[in-house]
Amino acid sequence: MTEIDLTVYPDECDAFGHLNQASFLALFERARWEMLARGPGMDIFSRSNAWPAVRKTTVDYNAAAYPGDVLRFHQTLTHHGRTSFTLRQTARRVRDDVLIATAEFVFVCINRDGRPIPVPAEFGEFMNARSAPRGSARTVTVNGVNLAVNVEGEGSTVLFIHGYPLNRTIWDPQLAALDGWRRVAPDLRGMGLSDAPDLGYSMATYAADLAALLDAIGADRAVLCGLSMGGYVAFEFLRRWRERVAGLVLIDTRAESDSAEGKRLRDEAAGLAREAGAAAIAESMLPSMLAPSATADLVERVREIMSAAPVSGIVGALAAMRERPDSTAMLPLLSGLPALVMVGAEDRLTPPARASAMATAIPDARLIVVAGAAHLPTLEQPTVVTDAIRAFLRGLQAW
Ligand code: MLT
Repeated sequence: MTEIDLTVYPDECDAFGHLNQASFLALFERARWEMLARGPGMDIFSRSNAWPAVRKTTVDYNAAAYPGDVLRFHQTLTHHGRTSFTLRQTARRVRDDVLIATAEFVFVCINRDGRPIPVPAEFGEFMNARSAPRGSARTVTVNGVNLAVNVEGEGSTVLFIHGYPLNRTIWDPQLAALDGWRRVAPDLRGMGLSDAPDLGYSMATYAADLAALLDAIGADRAVLCGLSMGGYVAFEFLRRWRERVAGLVLIDTRAESDSAEGKRLRDEAAGLAREAGAAAIAESMLPSMLAPSATADLVERVREIMSAAPVSGIVGALAAMRERPDSTAMLPLLSGLPALVMVGAEDRLTPPARASAMATAIPDARLIVVAGAAHLPTLEQPTVVTDAIRAFLRGLQAW
């Protein structure tokens, strides 16, 4: 268990009822030892005659906590050196998933004489095993962040980039069906089961993570398949590594940057996420994600995906989208790059008119409007989307 729930007691709070700083530090400590007590044992360090001495602590307090609040502490190993390691801990209120505080602790393992000694191997194994995502996804560490990634099949690589605030499972139908290609679907940092640092989100970072992921799996080139925010990431990837892109599939996305009003709405959404958690974001977005004809099961599935997004990842993605550059000028320059543009006929977030303008501006693009779908055609009309991608991929030389 790297997740530990602890309750805030009245005696840990100040005169105004807020959890105070000293007690917060004590709770971070408690969560770490509790995690070890439930795992390999609290004596994991003393068994190796080592003591983890704190060398540096950074704490960000995001929101107040009060007596009776149950906080969920999550601990991730973000660096594992020979004698030192770094643990990142987050505390979220269980009731509404609001991020209350995050902390980073740098430790050096020392012996009785105060000299640095190696981190007990058992500790690294325990923490790394705990960080592994559930299900069939594997973990690939890029730029200091663990990404959960599904890799299926053999052949030329197709990289599927999900939208906001979603995760890699929006591509499940395509991953299951597109035999003949190596299908790679990561959770972007901050989404799904990937690590969700509190800072450092931008289109450039997302794109750099994907380039590092392709390096890690030994793929020089890939067809990029981006849905909505995934399309914004694909544009950024193209700006930097055009030579690595063998083809482009853009689904329910746009090339324009945010308008002034769009930026204001991003700020509003970030405030909502911080105050009311991912569930509130999910409720606000659900009506525009799916066509009215979507089944109750699909609505529930998408609600679950969005509600599970870490608040830090949501806020980070909103900042990244808010600041993304305009990519319209790039479109006519994509000559020679085979492209497929798809859009749900009922998409109000990135409407068909925009998709059509984008397809017209890209020299070698084709447009498909998917009936009976809004912003998530990969799940709303999986067969239509999979067939269209298959036909597109078949038209390309192996890469
Ligand atoms: C997405 O689905 O990725 C978002 O709707 C994109 C956006 O908000 O611009």
